[in-house]
Amino acid sequence: MKVLLVGSGGREHALAWALAKSPLLTKLYCAPGNAGIAAVAECVPIPATDFAGLAKFAVETRIDFAVIAADAQLVGGLWDVMEAAGIRSLGPSKAAAVLEGSKGFVKDLCVQAGIVTAAYQRFTAPEPAKIFADSLGFPVVIKADGLAAGKGVIIAPDKGESHKAIDFMFEGGFGASGHAIVIEEFMDGEEASFFALSDGANVIPLAGAQDHKRVGDGDTGPNTGGMGAYSPAPVLTSSLQQMAMEKFIKPTVAAMAAKGMPYMGVLYLGLMITKQGPKLVEYNARFGDPECQVLMPRLKSDLLAALLAAREGTLAPLEWHDETALTVVMASKGYPGSYEKGHVIAGLERVAKLPGVTVFHAGTERRGGDILAVGGRVLNVTALGKDVAEAQARAYAAVDMIHWEGAFCRRDIGWRALKR
Ligand code: AMP
Ligand code: GLY
Repeated sequence: MKVLLVGSGGREHALAWALAKSPLLTKLYCAPGNAGIAAVAECVPIPATDFAGLAKFAVETRIDFAVIAADAQLVGGLWDVMEAAGIRSLGPSKAAAVLEGSKGFVKDLCVQAGIVTAAYQRFTAPEPAKIFADSLGFPVVIKADGLAAGKGVIIAPDKGESHKAIDFMFEGGFGASGHAIVIEEFMDGEEASFFALSDGANVIPLAGAQDHKRVGDGDTGPNTGGMGAYSPAPVLTSSLQQMAMEKFIKPTVAAMAAKGMPYMGVLYLGLMITKQGPKLVEYNARFGDPECQVLMPRLKSDLLAALLAAREGTLAPLEWHDETALTVVMASKGYPGSYEKGHVIAGLERVAKLPGVTVFHAGTERRGGDILAVGGRVLNVTALGKDVAEAQARAYAAVDMIHWEGAFCRRDIGWRALKR
């Protein structure tokens, strides 16, 4: 079977690495890929934003199955373009990707389906939004409705900041995604992610994970795409995992089917574990990045067979390794702001020899015999261990063998699990 994977980040390298192990696979292509993905797939220089180019390549190359991994492509409708060209693909469809594409839609769906989430209201004008925000008390959470590259949420500590944030969004601070906003109650607790795979009617659990969104140790500094993750996350006890499926994911999949937009694909549930129990923070229509980098090393079953089963409506439970996987993101100085590109990365060959360690590439490029750092998030140094402490020690031992000018990482990935 010929498979096309779309994307170029650490998540896509982890997916490519897992897909490459499938006995069903004859050839893996990745568009556009990166220097790490090139070791397990043929990279084709078509940008992920070129939907027509991707469909043309898939038809000409007789691709049997396409895996679309990123929110921008899913919310933008690449699944629909691929399927219209006759290429079976892992979704969701553009219609169903509204679970990631509109925060207001998700909040309304929670009310309809009886899913526990923060109190909220949706607004299309600033004045009523300010009145409602004042009525909730502080801190208060202000969200752009649409996709905003992970930056569309402002937690305002007081009235002044909340009014400023509301004006900022309506003045186009987050582009068109802020023309409608959601104001919601602040939830206090520990965040965790839970992943499931749906064929539109049935849904199976994948696994849980915990991400580290802030750039600095101790969860300080600005938000990033994620600086590290581990799976399983001890905060998600087996009873919480069961609740995630029964009280959140299954009612959501059923509600989407009832609305005539069945959800097929990976469903990422962001939960806040509060004193009153778990509450929904958000949905994403895909694997998390870097959460995917810790799920794939734990997956014992064939990823390609599982994703195909989601497309074909034949899902069956998957098997997972009990070990803990932990990934440390190595980034370029300045991230999540601006950073330098083009420094040569040293030490990758030595790390490749370490047992139980895999380095998933994100922003890398090959130039001759060198691998260059060309992104904000550059590498995901991932290790397996019998518990979080062992996986963490192995991951950092590998991190310490890798160098480039301006490289940095957090030194505390996994701290919440270790503190428990
Ligand atoms: P989102 O884009 O919805 O994932 O929000 C980004 C981050 O903002 C989440 O991961 C949470 O850390 C935080 N957040 C969002 N909504 C709330 C809320 N109602 N209460 C507390 N934190 C929130
Ligand atoms: N790691 C968070 C995300 O992928 O959205």
